[in-house]
Amino acid sequence: MKNYNWVSIGCGVIANELARAMAAEGRTLYGIANRTYDKAAAFAETYRVGKVYRTIDEVFSDPAVDILYISTPHNTHAPLLEKALKSGKHVLCEKSITLNSEELEAAAALAEERGLVLAEAMTLYHMPLYKKLRGLVESGALGPLGMLQLNFGSYKEYDMANRFFNPKLAGGALLDIGVYALSFARWFLSGAPCEVLSQMAPAPSGVDERAGILLRGPAGELATVALSLHTKQPKRGMAAFDRAYLEVYEYPRAQEAVITWTEDGRREVIREGDTGDALRYEIRDMERAVAGEGNEMCLGYSRDVMAVMTRLRRDWGLVYPEEMPTAR
Ligand SMILES: NC(=O)c1ccc[n+]([C@@H]2O[C@H](COP(=O)([O-])OP(=O)(O)OC[C@H]3O[C@@H](n4cnc5c(N)ncnc54)[C@H](OP(=O)(O)O)[C@@H]3O)[C@@H](O)[C@H]2O)c1
Repeated sequence: MKNYNWVSIGCGVIANELARAMAAEGRTLYGIANRTYDKAAAFAETYRVGKVYRTIDEVFSDPAVDILYISTPHNTHAPLLEKALKSGKHVLCEKSITLNSEELEAAAALAEERGLVLAEAMTLYHMPLYKKLRGLVESGALGPLGMLQLNFGSYKEYDMANRFFNPKLAGGALLDIGVYALSFARWFLSGAPCEVLSQMAPAPSGVDERAGILLRGPAGELATVALSLHTKQPKRGMAAFDRAYLEVYEYPRAQEAVITWTEDGRREVIREGDTGDALRYEIRDMERAVAGEGNEMCLGYSRDVMAVMTRLRRDWGLVYPEEMPTAR
């Protein structure tokens, strides 16, 4: 398979992780583009990236670029996706891929029209553990799914300078961490959730700080999700089937699950993959999709998750500045 030319737009925390993952693959990013040029230049020096773009817009007209990795805040994704896809680039975009379904459906339509791969960088979909668990579920050994329960809570200071609580940077628990819990739920549910209920408690800035979410899957299975951004919780995912339940800690990049069998209480540990290689799995799946050698990018799941998040924020009356009628 060809070695594709990747460029990251953004050079923050997660872009550094991508550059390290590339290095672990024995590769380097082809280029780096950032709002602040000096930071891009420093990033290029650290990771031996050959090309530093003066402006983000220059990337779109460079014919050498195959795959764009968008690693800027959520509220900047939709306009960057539009430019990237219109210029014929494949895109791996950080979570949450857009603010709402309208933006995501517009990007998905562009990608489809142009035969491009568009995907959300949701590590969970690429971890070998989940692929193994999927096989186990499909084998029927666990029986039908009844319940899912997901926790995710971080403790972030009420600091408006960072992106977590700032509405102008599309802050809030749902788009920042809820997307992981809902992606876990979608991985196991029999289809897109057909009913969505919730309670939300806002942060002082007005964005969602805590939420309790209840989903119903097409086969009647239920999922409960607890999110918080100023209260620590374990990152714990649980899927309960007729014959056993699965528990996964640190679920966004998990390498281990524990199965407890209902019949005799026996516990079985399943290990697959390596948490430290999460972005390497993502890079490999993306390149296989671009090469037409399979599609494990799960954009359909991202669309279902985005539909749930769009519905929840509508129920909560939580609108970001980009979504105000005056911004259109
Ligand atoms: N998948 C994961 O495990 C994971 C983990 C962390 C984050 N993320 C996601 O990745 C994205 C970035 O997070 P991060 O933690 O890397 O953020 P970060 O460290 O704050 O970096 C943000 C980057 O975006 C750029 N930026 C900020 N505002 C911008 C704007 N208005 N227009 C263009 N560029 C802008 C910044 O440029 P300057 O240098 O000019 O400030 C910087 O390069 C978010 O969507 C986040 O949810 C994913």
